[in-house]
Amino acid sequence: MGKDSTIIVSAPGKVHLLGEHAVVYGKPAILTAVNLRVYVVISKSNTDHTLPGTVIDQDTTAKIQKIVERVVKKHLKIKSIPSYQLSISSQIPIGSGLGSSAAVSAAYIAALLIFLKINWDLDLVNNLAYETEKVFHGNPSGGDNSTVVFGGLVWFRKESADLRIIQPLQFTISSKLAKNFILINTGKPQETTKEMVGIVNSKFKIQSSKFKKLFDDQEKLVRELLPALHGFNEKELIRIIQQGEKNLETMGVCSNYVKGIIRKIEKAGGAAKICGAGGKTKSSGILLCYHKNKKVAEKVARSYNLPCFSTQLGVEGIKIEK
Ligand code: PMV
Repeated sequence: MGKDSTIIVSAPGKVHLLGEHAVVYGKPAILTAVNLRVYVVISKSNTDHTLPGTVIDQDTTAKIQKIVERVVKKHLKIKSIPSYQLSISSQIPIGSGLGSSAAVSAAYIAALLIFLKINWDLDLVNNLAYETEKVFHGNPSGGDNSTVVFGGLVWFRKESADLRIIQPLQFTISSKLAKNFILINTGKPQETTKEMVGIVNSKFKIQSSKFKKLFDDQEKLVRELLPALHGFNEKELIRIIQQGEKNLETMGVCSNYVKGIIRKIEKAGGAAKICGAGGKTKSSGILLCYHKNKKVAEKVARSYNLPCFSTQLGVEGIKIEK
């Protein structure tokens, strides 16, 4: 806590390099923290802090506060929480596959535990953030919260309801590859993450063997992605992202509009994929794009009037700013 009893904690957003949706069915995923952060400020009195990003409106902040406090009270068996001022500022587009809800939950929980003078570590923050993600998303895998809490590059697998394997990977993406990724914002999907997970589940129930094969193939690709990222295997990386995206499209989580953008990037020699739950009506959230000359992917984004930006991958997780 700062001298003026203000606590500021930040958490990054995330992208799924691969494995989203299949991860809900016990398959592995590789995720990485991205350099867009959420800042949560807890103070005893109203203090002004200029933080990066957009300040979240009061109504949304109050809703988040209710959910997070309920989870913290229940799991830590706390009867009441002293009053405090809460303010949240975010650089992460909401509901677009960058893990904004997980980042808000994680940063807020860590700040609240500091405020309550509770002994905490990253595992505790992660477990509580998973509980709040359940309130937001129904049946999440836990991959988002694990990545924003621990940061870096994460291998994630949900083995059962109570067992999740979170393996922070001990290497960074080769800088030669990392510099060629860009994110394109196709807009906030009409569908929520919860709805998209539900759509895949309904299809899975009707076409089990087709979906099992798709999930198996995503697992194979995730395993192949690891050496491609570790080394500098651009050709492999492009092949894996392209095939992974095709599988996501077969699952029905990418709109025709967004498929058109992705085909253009592929035709120009690159690869692109949705990097979260996706969306099927028009916008499908953030696209993770790779091209050996990223200007080419930027040009495609411009031709659709879509914002695109470079971001550092593999950044630090939860950070106490003050
Ligand atoms: O859209 P996001 O960033 O919440 O990512 C969801 C990822 C899914 O695999 C579709 C769901 C999950 O809980 O892992």
